[in-house]
Amino acid sequence: MDIEALLTTSGQAALSAAMALGEADPLVAASRLRADGHDPALAAAALTQARLRERAVAKFGERAASMYFTPDGLEQATRPAVAARRAARFAAAGATRIADLCCGIGSDLTAFTEAGLAATGVDLSPGTVAAARLNAPGAEVVCGDVTTFPLDGFDAAFCDPARRAGGRRVFDPSAYSPPWPFLLSLAERIPRTGVKVAPGIGHELVPAGAEAEWVSVGGDVVEAALWFGPFASADRRATLLPSGAALTGSGERRAGTGPLRRWIYDPDGAVVRSHLVAELADLLGANLVDPSIAYLTSDDPVDTPFARRYEVTGVLGFSVKRLRALLAARGVGRLTIKKRGSAVTPEQLRPQLKLRGDREATVFLTRIAGAPSMILSDPPG
Ligand SMILES: C[S@@+](CC[C@H](N)C(=O)[O-])C[C@H]1O[C@@H](n2cnc3c(N)ncnc32)[C@H](O)[C@@H]1O
Repeated sequence: MDIEALLTTSGQAALSAAMALGEADPLVAASRLRADGHDPALAAAALTQARLRERAVAKFGERAASMYFTPDGLEQATRPAVAARRAARFAAAGATRIADLCCGIGSDLTAFTEAGLAATGVDLSPGTVAAARLNAPGAEVVCGDVTTFPLDGFDAAFCDPARRAGGRRVFDPSAYSPPWPFLLSLAERIPRTGVKVAPGIGHELVPAGAEAEWVSVGGDVVEAALWFGPFASADRRATLLPSGAALTGSGERRAGTGPLRRWIYDPDGAVVRSHLVAELADLLGANLVDPSIAYLTSDDPVDTPFARRYEVTGVLGFSVKRLRALLAARGVGRLTIKKRGSAVTPEQLRPQLKLRGDREATVFLTRIAGAPSMILSDPPG
């Protein structure tokens, strides 16, 4: 059953009833709705939509309760904070009429209209198109193939290709839908173009003259995007949300290496992925402790949105026994384990430490000048 059926009076009644049931057992919920006189097919569609809305709260917050989803559409939708920032970037560049190619259930599309742009969404999937029409009422939404969609009259384009095949994530851009050559050709047709890509995209695939941006939300890298034409003011950009702090650079410099100092910094994943650790090191007056690992260190504490800072209170060569003794002596019962450049996993290490005590600490499993090492910080930073 499609989303439109839920828009009828009886569909809306079934949806309200399904949402009121909350997280009841699916079979119990279905028989409750049928017993209350709701059509069985409508009841099933309403329960599916209610479940999707519950799941969507993690991404869309309160808005989820009035939105429409398909399972894939929800999974692939852009988070609103990321979409809002993207839309603001298009608006600031003077875009007025944007084609959102592969609009899915319309998260980016909504943000474009909320930023004051005239927006047209295009998607192949009738289910997501139906959802996008409801979620982004201020936009025009077309069901069709973006590779044949005419772009006359648009002064900006955004494409968020499908990066899944057979239910699995696709990492190779040549397997995206629409295909990679189409994405690259977009910028030749419309200079103000942005294309969303997987955060794992290799730097060697970034076209010359384009800006590659990695975006994190609350410290987790959630997406990467390629920006063309007037947007490409930097080669690489790391953007941190919700603050909007941005670091830019060439992505080709290497930070210097030196001894471990009093403060250690764990750079945000967006900074690491965008290869801007050297630019961050400049801001902090910091150096690496190992040439191939992204931890930075400095004598003086510098406040930065681009990294978490910890005070070093212990350092030892890799030894579970010595770490266990050190943590026991300090009464550490709660330990955060961070790692870069170590094969040991927190799951392996934690039970061996037999933690007891009231204090909290952080340990970094890493290498210092090539040697497997453990750096301790307590209080945790
Ligand atoms: C990652 S989702 C887009 C999510 C969207 N930006 C959002 O925030 O809701 C990708 C979408 O691309 C659509 N798609 C894939 N190939 C397409 C094509 N050739 N033409 C139109 N849509 C396509 C899929 O149906 C899917 O809905």
